[in-house]
Amino acid sequence: MVEILEDTERRLMVNIPQDLSNDDFSRYLIDRMHQLEERNHLIREQNHKIVAEKRYAESQKLKFERELRTIKSELEKLKTTPLIVGTIVEVLENGKLVVRSSTGPQFVVGLSQFIKESELEPGTQVAMNQQTLAVISVLPTSRSHLVRGVEVIESLDVEYSDIGGLEDQIRELREAVELPLTRPELFTRIGIDPPKGVMLYGPPGTGKTMLAKAVSHQTSATFLRLVGSELVQKYIGEGARMVRELFKLAKDKAPSIIFIDELDSIGAKRYDGATAGDREVQRTLMQLLAEMDGFNPRGDVRLLAATNRLDILDPALLRPGRFDRFIEVTPPNNEARVQILKIHTRNMNLSKDVDFNYLAKLTEGTSGSGLKAIATEAGMFAIRNEKDCVEVDDLINAIKKVVGEKDSSSSVSENMFA
Ligand SMILES: Nc1ncnc2c1ncn2[C@@H]1O[C@H](COP(=O)(O)OP(=O)(O)OP(=O)(O)O)[C@@H](O)[C@H]1O
Ligand SMILES: [Mg+2]
Repeated sequence: MVEILEDTERRLMVNIPQDLSNDDFSRYLIDRMHQLEERNHLIREQNHKIVAEKRYAESQKLKFERELRTIKSELEKLKTTPLIVGTIVEVLENGKLVVRSSTGPQFVVGLSQFIKESELEPGTQVAMNQQTLAVISVLPTSRSHLVRGVEVIESLDVEYSDIGGLEDQIRELREAVELPLTRPELFTRIGIDPPKGVMLYGPPGTGKTMLAKAVSHQTSATFLRLVGSELVQKYIGEGARMVRELFKLAKDKAPSIIFIDELDSIGAKRYDGATAGDREVQRTLMQLLAEMDGFNPRGDVRLLAATNRLDILDPALLRPGRFDRFIEVTPPNNEARVQILKIHTRNMNLSKDVDFNYLAKLTEGTSGSGLKAIATEAGMFAIRNEKDCVEVDDLINAIKKVVGEKDSSSSVSENMFA
């Protein structure tokens, strides 16, 4: 810019030739004027361009400043010390709180003035400063990470028709679990409470988990499913809290069905002289008992559990008013074995001369899961021999393989259920 101005000035200062006539001089002046106007025009244009450039640079500057600010605040966030998670035990009158940190000990601490008093309740989870342990914020409790993921959202792909035999069990299960949810008025009319908890028990591989999955597939109620051992947590009180939250979630999502698989992992008999770990499992069990007492049987939360060690379960779990409907899932009889074999071979390319009755006789004492293994094994034999379909001798070989394996270990499992 400055250069351009200097250049113009120099041109203006150019010595005017002295020896010009008047005409020439006026022509010279006009000429000069034109030149200068052109020059002026050019300078204006350049000025416009430079102003635009300046504006762009300014906006760029703003943008970079903003970016700098976000990066700085991100850096701050990354550098801040972590907060400790604790649980409120008691709200004291002087405005202080008794909290238990997740590692165990309890503290009396102050709290931030931005926390609403209504949010402070015993049992609420809070975040605390690491040094002073002052409560900084209240954590949302409605869905803790503990029980997240227990809700079955996609329906499981097992239907009642996939289960061989067990007709009586299916009927009983539907009466005890589905009916109170779908037609509660039947129970009100007769004046009885439907069974609170239904227990499926029986030897391994007989279809207990499968029955529960079929219930979840059939019903439109929310299905909450977890395995008993998930309730065993590292820290004291966590298991009990998980049980409490599970029931709360079930109530919020009602109508709902809670299914606890392998209940024996927390429901084993309590005994004296247990280790600290055992005592924690017992506390979880007691919370479960308390929750079962707490919910209204005509309400729309049903409880379903499965175990294969009914004999070791705590008697308190099994008394009337808790798990009071027992459904024994028995190993399949001859007829059921025929059905189960048909179910597991229905997608297979079978040769026409397969006689299921004969196969069922050969597999006396085999469980549902054993029969499934036989079907898969027979398919493997057919593949190995590059056949187009599964023939009788493949099935017989598979039975020999699976049942033979079982025989060597059967003495162990027989003892378990004796
Ligand atoms: N009655 C049945 N009809 C069809 N398939 C069955 C039946 N029983 C068992 N099966 C087969 O065996 C598999 C295992 O069954 P499931 O998981 O229900 O056993 P479980 O009774 O829960 O055993 P566990 O007590 O060891 O948990 C199923 O996936 C299924 O393929
Ligand atoms: Mg199971």
